[in-house]
Amino acid sequence: MEKKLLEKFGEVYGAGGEIREYFAPGRVNLIGEHTDYNGGHVFPCALTLGTYGLARRREDRKLRFYSVNFSRLGVIETSLDDLVPSDGAGWTNYPKGVMWAFEKRGYTFENGVDFLIYGNIPNGSGLSSSASLEVLTGLMLKDMYGIEELTMQDLALIGQYSENNFNGMNCGIMDQFASAMGKKDCAIFLDTSTLEYEYAPVKLKDARIVITNSKVKHSLVGSAYNDRRNECETALKELQKVTDIKALGELTEEEFEAHKDAISSEICRKRAKHAVYENQRTIRAVKALKEDNVEEFGRLMNASHVSLRDDYEVSCEEIDILVDLAWKIPGVIGSRITGGGFGGCTVSIVKNEAVDTFIETIGRKYKEAVGHEAEFYVVDIGDGAHKIG
Ligand code: GLA
Repeated sequence: MEKKLLEKFGEVYGAGGEIREYFAPGRVNLIGEHTDYNGGHVFPCALTLGTYGLARRREDRKLRFYSVNFSRLGVIETSLDDLVPSDGAGWTNYPKGVMWAFEKRGYTFENGVDFLIYGNIPNGSGLSSSASLEVLTGLMLKDMYGIEELTMQDLALIGQYSENNFNGMNCGIMDQFASAMGKKDCAIFLDTSTLEYEYAPVKLKDARIVITNSKVKHSLVGSAYNDRRNECETALKELQKVTDIKALGELTEEEFEAHKDAISSEICRKRAKHAVYENQRTIRAVKALKEDNVEEFGRLMNASHVSLRDDYEVSCEEIDILVDLAWKIPGVIGSRITGGGFGGCTVSIVKNEAVDTFIETIGRKYKEAVGHEAEFYVVDIGDGAHKIG
């Protein structure tokens, strides 16, 4: 793969000079959904799928981008003096946004760069291809310009900042954090209110993580996501009149039940309920995993789905079909929607001996029900972003 990309780089930009290579993974979140902007916990892991980047510094201020995935777009050229988002810039808005965010932090760049990018995360699947591209760009800039003081955690924050302020998606920190900080065979138990984290080995004994891609992405994803955030903020403001909290993640279920009548709209009450209960579920799920109680972990994943479907309302018909089918298969320990929602993927924990049946049965029944095929990935947990060569 890397050799091919190097050849491609030479083909596109000409050989010679120092070409460096990097990788940043996508992520799957095991539990703790829509808690990261509510000061709660998340439990994502980095995948071995992700985004590769090759880069070479230039003498002038030009920036050139080429994506192997979007080769029909050819080389997209811009400059360090033009770091503004535009519809026409397509995918290059992500790396440009990160450069812009570096400049906002006070780093200025004299020389431009030629970039070649290749990703093997299915596009629009909700496995964080954009966050991986942001973290990848951050790592390339840090390394190529020798900015040593920036930590991987800083790169996650810069990625999130650029996504929020350059690309207009008001996401939390989970995706970029997982891509930057991931660790092989571990999930990251992250407290988003403090950014304290712990690596928890994902020991599933005789089971695998299976991601199922619904291959649907309903429109208005960004705005529906931002609506959920606003509804949680409204609920928080009303709760703050009766209890001293900074974020929904500070509440236990009992405290929420005691104060919930302070939230005037039913919708906002449901959203807040999800945020509170999901956070507590995540804490419990990590404890269960540490105690080798994979069955309990699975039950909590299932409960997470119900809450995301009924209270947070970020699921959709296709995803519910996938999860309902999964729940019926013997050997499925847990299954739920993962990521932002409104399509994308489910994540399931499936006993080894049931994986083939899972793929065959759900594949067939899903196609019968919705008219198109799902895609399945039996995944491994990989390391966070790193330099390859
Ligand atoms: C998207 C966002 C994350 C997080 C999830 C939901 O992936 O980018 O910050 O909020 O949705 O858990």
